[in-house]
Amino acid sequence: MNFFLETLRLLVLSIYFMLESLVLLFVPVRKKSVAGEIMLITGAGSGIGRLMALKFARLGATLVLWDINQTGNKETAQLAKENGAVRVHAYTCDCSKRQEIYRVADQVKKEVGDVSILINNAGVVTGKKFIDSPDSLVEKTMEVNILAHFWTYKAFLPAMMASNHGHLVTIASSAGLIGVSGLADYCASKFAAVGFAESVGLEMLALGKSGVKTTIVCPYFIHTGMFEGCQTKWPRVLPILNADYAAQRIVNAVLEEQSYLLMPRSMSIMNAMKNILPVKLSVLMGHYFGAFSLIDHFTGREKKD
Ligand SMILES: *[C@@H]1O[C@H](CO)[C@@H](O)[C@H](O)[C@H]1NC(C)=O
Repeated sequence: MNFFLETLRLLVLSIYFMLESLVLLFVPVRKKSVAGEIMLITGAGSGIGRLMALKFARLGATLVLWDINQTGNKETAQLAKENGAVRVHAYTCDCSKRQEIYRVADQVKKEVGDVSILINNAGVVTGKKFIDSPDSLVEKTMEVNILAHFWTYKAFLPAMMASNHGHLVTIASSAGLIGVSGLADYCASKFAAVGFAESVGLEMLALGKSGVKTTIVCPYFIHTGMFEGCQTKWPRVLPILNADYAAQRIVNAVLEEQSYLLMPRSMSIMNAMKNILPVKLSVLMGHYFGAFSLIDHFTGREKKD
């Protein structure tokens, strides 16, 4: 194609896509069916992972639940069955360990089949100023929040590519878009998770595997205990999200194959502003929204193992 034709095509399609996204603001998007899909959720033993599992249970997906906490995971499996799940398989897996991820992934492929919807949800948080964060927790944060995504993609993406059918869902965070004082290692891992998922998503397009979808979820704090003690200064503008609401929005985003989900809606505006405002103004806004003292009262979940 010559320059003139390609540019013309670009302009026409640009206008078309702008109009399309405008229309889609008002027209409900068709939801896909997940019945019969094999869906893996990491960190399914509690929090958002559990809530997503219960919601997808009703939609007929075969659930493969991973968690380091066997008790919590089994509870989720039981609840999922009570919620109408046809097939549920719970596996204990420590997502900070590459070899264990590969081992359990092989087991899943043998016992259940090829995963077609992968939801990387498991996550940990240190919740201390960086200088005070123990090296072991910093490492754990990177292992669970991003390295595990590499290994699960390595394990399950090839089958999705072979059939040009699948869905990669990343539960990242608004802390994967905007830095937060007191969450440095967490932000590092979440920025990485966003960049990784976005890049592999583009790789799929470049390879012509448009049947492998990507959804990147960036919520503000969710009420699950993970960030217990964290405060939001103006809850009306930036509320701590209700866990059930957040899980439902994520489920909808998956069913509608949305590429990005930022929650609450004001997060999209914050993200856009961060990228265009002068830095001093961003810092001023940060103070206004209490971003410098978010984790001052962090307690997190009851300490584990
Ligand atoms: C594991 O899950 C159970 C049930 O949800 C919970 O009571 C327990 O505190 C969890 N254990 C750890 C070590 O987090």
